Amino acid sequence: MEHQRTHTCGQLRLENVGETVVLNGWVDTVRDHGGLMFFEIRDRYGFTQVVVDPEEQPSVRDLKSEWVVAVKGEVKARPEENKNPNKATGDIDLYVDVLEVLNRSKVPPFEVQDDLATREELRLEYRYLDMRRRPVLSAMEMRSRVTQIMRREFHDEGFMEVETPVLMKTSPEGARDFIVPSRLHLGKVYGLPQSPQLFKQTLMVCGIDKYFQICKCFRDEDLRADRQPEFTQLDMEMSFVRQDDVFRVIERTMAAIYQELKGIEVPTPFPRYTYHEAMNRWGIDKPDVRFDLELFDLSDVAKESGFKVFKGAVESGGIVRGLVLPGGAELTRKMIDAAEAVAKEYGARGLAWLKLTDEGPTGGISKFLGAAELEAIKDRGGAKPGDLVVFGADTWTTALTALGQVRLHFGKTRDLIDKSRAALLWVTDFPLFEWSEDDQRWQAMHHMFTAPRQPLPAKGEDLSDITADLYDLVIDGNEIGSGSIRIHRPEIQTQIFDHVGITPEEADLKFGWFLKALDYGAPPHGGIALGLDRIVMLLVNGQSLREVIAFPKLASGVCPLTQSPSPPDAAQWDELGLGVVEQDANEG
Ligand code: AMO
Ligand code: AMP
Repeated sequence: MEHQRTHTCGQLRLENVGETVVLNGWVDTVRDHGGLMFFEIRDRYGFTQVVVDPEEQPSVRDLKSEWVVAVKGEVKARPEENKNPNKATGDIDLYVDVLEVLNRSKVPPFEVQDDLATREELRLEYRYLDMRRRPVLSAMEMRSRVTQIMRREFHDEGFMEVETPVLMKTSPEGARDFIVPSRLHLGKVYGLPQSPQLFKQTLMVCGIDKYFQICKCFRDEDLRADRQPEFTQLDMEMSFVRQDDVFRVIERTMAAIYQELKGIEVPTPFPRYTYHEAMNRWGIDKPDVRFDLELFDLSDVAKESGFKVFKGAVESGGIVRGLVLPGGAELTRKMIDAAEAVAKEYGARGLAWLKLTDEGPTGGISKFLGAAELEAIKDRGGAKPGDLVVFGADTWTTALTALGQVRLHFGKTRDLIDKSRAALLWVTDFPLFEWSEDDQRWQAMHHMFTAPRQPLPAKGEDLSDITADLYDLVIDGNEIGSGSIRIHRPEIQTQIFDHVGITPEEADLKFGWFLKALDYGAPPHGGIALGLDRIVMLLVNGQSLREVIAFPKLASGVCPLTQSPSPPDAAQWDELGLGVVEQDANEG
């Protein structure tokens, strides 16, 4: 190329008027205004309007969108009436003396413009065109700035960034591992890390008392908008710490990110709610507190209720909770049914309701309720005439979960969420174990390496009261990170394996190497990992992780750009001693 840029396409201003400059970039739409031709030249920094006289530069007539050009010429001020205050370079034009075509482009399958309705799959197949668009570029820029701030803050705090292996021993944690067959060891595989959990704990045994890493994690699980098979964590671990020390470092980092990238002052320390408090108040362990509605308890008065459902729930050991929707008396039957459908989707048997008017309660279950219940609805729920009250009567988990989801449903459909706010908070004191109905056994709520606060009871006994320094970072109702204070004593680790049904042989096979490390002076330690993709998605107000990943995969797990996964060639099969037994059902 003969003409190398002196400026970027987003740089020129009135003070450059009179200068001769060179821009390099892509051609946006070309317009022919009779005598002169206009086009915008674009790069990642912006657009500059270029004016060309086709008499002097006949090749301008050939130019098409997305061709790559160099233009050299003089910067001129636009006449006042043509100035565009919405564009950074809207005060000037570049009058071109030299036009050099650096490369041509085929006709793109969609126009490179900011608001594009093209389906996502096509955009991702042509991601190199898609990413020339401002919204995608902005997301990528945001991501880069987030990781930059993370690295800066962690280095300032004395953390060391250490890379841990991607080819490792397969040891499924929660999800399925992706595995990589070994050529040198036929019949053996590596697993890709679901997280660097065991390596980071081993780094603590190494004496790296403050570790962090921005790393790829791989999980072969069913994908959703907030899940990708490969995603990125800000992973950290510290030795000789308590939960508060971990929180402080994360709070400092997240506050810097919101301050610098969104201009939002996030007060520290972040509010903390125990798991039980979060469930009781908002019916969810990742509450969105950008709007107010809170659940209230009716179990005591419901004991004596004339409404069988309430009385029955309490008598069988369950609870009754209510939720007031201010102004909700205007909801139609159809809207209430929609809320009930949400409750049922989350396991409730129904959604009892009533409306408060100046004359008293009406509709739904109003005729069944006595004075004590109405009193509680007004006192505890703060219900006023014009409000709707809904109820859940069920086991603790089901009643709260269902109402929590109804609360979110109202938040969205009634537009109650203050989107200008950022609500960062901790949920703490998670139970260490949860009972799995499917497997009929206790399993770790987070993972098996979290330290119990109390001594464990004998195997087979109820573990539901065992708590841990086990915490989540929640932002705007999304689980952004999870962490805990870990087990550093091998005998306790062995006990936990035993309680979740992992035999000593299995433990040795999967985690023997790690248990061995714990035997050599493992310090007390704890940490957390944050989902980077999720953080960036929130910062750009995105709907899906795909918006903030350069080359993401679709929900089917397919990469539309490269068409992976793809069959290996015959030689690769041979070398690995592998072959296909059954055709992939997904390939039709
Ligand atoms: P956990 O499994 O909770 O904890 O993961 C931590 C955070 O990673 C993000 N995340 C994901 N993001 C996108 N796609 C996915 N499939 C996905 N899965 C998880 C979430 C989540 O909160 N080793 C522990 C951390 C620790 O204990 O220190 C761990 O990985 O934002
Ligand atoms: P039913 O007596 O079953 O006709 O229910 C009367 C009202 O109570 C309906 O609005 C149901 O949706 C609701 N309902 C039934 N079971 C429950 C429950 N377990 N929790 C809350 N509401 C319920």
